[in-house]
Amino acid sequence: MRTIDRLGDPRGKRILVRSDLNVPLSGSTITDDGRVRASVPTIRALADAGARVVVMAHLGRPKGEPDPRYSLAPVAERLAELLGTDVAFATDVVGDSAHKTVGALGDGGVALLENVRFDARETSKDDAERGAMADELAELGDYFVSDGFGVVHRKQASVYDIAQRLPHAAGELVEAEMEAFGKVLVSPARPYVVVLGGSKVSDKLGVIDNLLGKVNRLLIGGGMAFTFLAARGYGVGGSLLEADQIDVVRGYLERAAQSGVEIVLPTDVVIAAELAADAETSVVSASAIPDDQKGLDIGPATIELFRSKLADARTVVWNGPMGVFELPPFAAGTEQIGRAISEVDGTTVVGGGDSAAAVRKLGLDASAFTHISTGGGASLELLEGKTLPGLSVLE
Ligand code: 3PG
Repeated sequence: MRTIDRLGDPRGKRILVRSDLNVPLSGSTITDDGRVRASVPTIRALADAGARVVVMAHLGRPKGEPDPRYSLAPVAERLAELLGTDVAFATDVVGDSAHKTVGALGDGGVALLENVRFDARETSKDDAERGAMADELAELGDYFVSDGFGVVHRKQASVYDIAQRLPHAAGELVEAEMEAFGKVLVSPARPYVVVLGGSKVSDKLGVIDNLLGKVNRLLIGGGMAFTFLAARGYGVGGSLLEADQIDVVRGYLERAAQSGVEIVLPTDVVIAAELAADAETSVVSASAIPDDQKGLDIGPATIELFRSKLADARTVVWNGPMGVFELPPFAAGTEQIGRAISEVDGTTVVGGGDSAAAVRKLGLDASAFTHISTGGGASLELLEGKTLPGLSVLE
């Protein structure tokens, strides 16, 4: 992968940077600015070197036309605060505003284009449509820098097609992410333990399938654990269950047993009748969840069990919370396991999305992990062993 320094002296050049600024918003307030922060080093390095930086990004999944709910305007403000410099905001993607804003940039200036997904061609499945948009984007830059790691699994105009039109390089974030994932994907130090959680097992099937041949242990918590418990023959009460995946999961349990991979499931769970911050909770064995209760976090015995399975690990990947960590009664599992992972003597990589949000929300020490990814889907696809279009196009 080409790195930024291979583009030569960027002074005075217009550099289109694809960042992933897809942050959660409540109204126009950013509730977790992790991705904006992670995008700053590349933008700052280019601006400090005298480039005219034109940032492209998406927010949410608008329907291919302008929609104020998905405007990047609040993100432009936050980016400006974090950079400590003005960020000129273009109110369209490739229209008059974009051309005027980019044309007015001086050396070292930074602009942000409006949500690229306000143009339906960005996400089109039609190569020619995406190509036409990429041609228009390419008019706004001399070089392309790919730094939106969270979106490199998308074959989209501002991620993929643009790289076929301009001299390009990977930004610092994409480089850092690839270095971290390289450590776990290529000859990981052992024991290699993967901790998976989150609500849906169906989102993680490809990951489990690929990891069964690679890891020493798979620790499974979160909502997805209940489909595993059901595959072991337990009743799960009102807990999350994907009944149509029970057979698939049973197949994984059999494959793991044959190949010597240890799959570790919760032995106890925190239950409540309803998902609420003031819910009355209790702890029961994973084999004794009452019909009228839901499992909403792993229990204390499971925390100890998972801790013991992490203690000698030399490589750990963590993707997905252990419970509904957003609500205090169900946060202990995610907090304790996150802490245990951060104490591992080896390489620890936190997948993006909910697990990265949990690290921040629960106040865990982010610097105690080797790497916290900004990619949700992208990091999962890497763990699935897939080739990501936004990365292969940079080769
Ligand atoms: C993400 O949130 O994982 C990335 O920003 C990609 O967003 P998308 O799933 O809408 O393509």
